[in-house]
Amino acid sequence: MTAARGTPGLTDQPPLRPHSAADSASDGGFPGIIGQSPPMRRLFRLVERVAASDSTVLVTGETGTGKGLVARAIHQRSRRSAGAFVALNCGAIPENLLESELFGHVRGAFTGATANKAGKFEAAHGGTLFLDEIGDMRPDLQVKLLRALEEGEFEPVGGCQTIRVDVRIIAATHRDLEARVAEGRFREDLFYRLYVIPLPLPPLRERPEDIPLLLDHFRVLFRNAGPTVLAGFTPSALDVLCAYPWPGNVREIRNLVERLTVLQAKAWIGPEDLPERVTAGAGTAVHAAPRVAIADQGICLNEAVTEFEKALILKSLEKTKWVKNQATKLLRLNRTTLVEKIKRHGIDTPPEAEDHRAASAG
Ligand SMILES: Nc1ncnc2c1ncn2[C@@H]1O[C@H](COP(=O)(O)OP(=O)(O)OP(=O)(O)O)[C@@H](O)[C@H]1O
Ligand SMILES: [Mg+2]
Repeated sequence: MTAARGTPGLTDQPPLRPHSAADSASDGGFPGIIGQSPPMRRLFRLVERVAASDSTVLVTGETGTGKGLVARAIHQRSRRSAGAFVALNCGAIPENLLESELFGHVRGAFTGATANKAGKFEAAHGGTLFLDEIGDMRPDLQVKLLRALEEGEFEPVGGCQTIRVDVRIIAATHRDLEARVAEGRFREDLFYRLYVIPLPLPPLRERPEDIPLLLDHFRVLFRNAGPTVLAGFTPSALDVLCAYPWPGNVREIRNLVERLTVLQAKAWIGPEDLPERVTAGAGTAVHAAPRVAIADQGICLNEAVTEFEKALILKSLEKTKWVKNQATKLLRLNRTTLVEKIKRHGIDTPPEAEDHRAASAG
């Protein structure tokens, strides 16, 4: 898109703190975007490359994975950073207003249009237009958007003057756009127009290494939000938090840390302070398994499963102070099987457990 009418300068949100060399050195990524897991490192490299281009980007990922954050980071690192970053949530605006929000309207175009109004395309001239929740846009608007993207021009609602703008598009959705295309709910031509550089964001359950970093980041962020400064999480609380699958991703962590800071007047958060939703699945294999990182060169499944079994048996023995009859109940095994497994894994009873058992017997 080229020359334009309209003035850049409108931003919907405050800008990110400018990036400095010190930031790069300390976090290896982007200021305010926390993550050191392999998927996040890959993402940072991709964002760096994408930011250097002017190509259309389609950011996808589950809710709360940071799509909005990443879109802003791309803009901030791009040659357009001095221009506006204008965001429009295509899912949140009533359908009849969305066209005017995008393209603006002229006076008298519809009831209530008392003056000419520029749309987001014009506001983003010279900068970046972030079309959030693009998967929710209705089909007739998709046609108009496609034309604006392909030809770089559009007409405001009710107007006949063609407006040209210079805008970089970043779109985002938490929906499976390809599935929506297959269902006939999203235009295939628009999909391919947007699908120039796909940027899929990994869900948190695929990068559990980042959970402690995020907990600490938000602990510091909300340090003044409650009556007591939160010092941290006990090791067993951390175990539970790292095993939880976080369906709401980073947003859910953020909200939980804020809530704990405000409501728990405690320096250290233990497992008993965590909501039941988070503790409910603690200790079950279903939730713990995603904690095992799968290296690029792969893992040996049999070895991993054996290690996992050993760890669970050890945990149950520790929990029951090495009373095997109780551990069998926790693991729903019969005693012979448990004893065999203990032998096979070479698990030795620690001396203090022998003392404890002798004391309980006596
Ligand atoms: N890697 C991260 N580091 C720090 N904060 C993050 C990270 N990812 C997300 N957040 C924070 O989590 C919250 C949710 O992020 P964001 O709104 O960008 O998610 P989203 O993918 O756009 O979600 P939705 O699909 O629901 O709109 C925000 O407060 C954001 O700042
Ligand atoms: Mg979002």
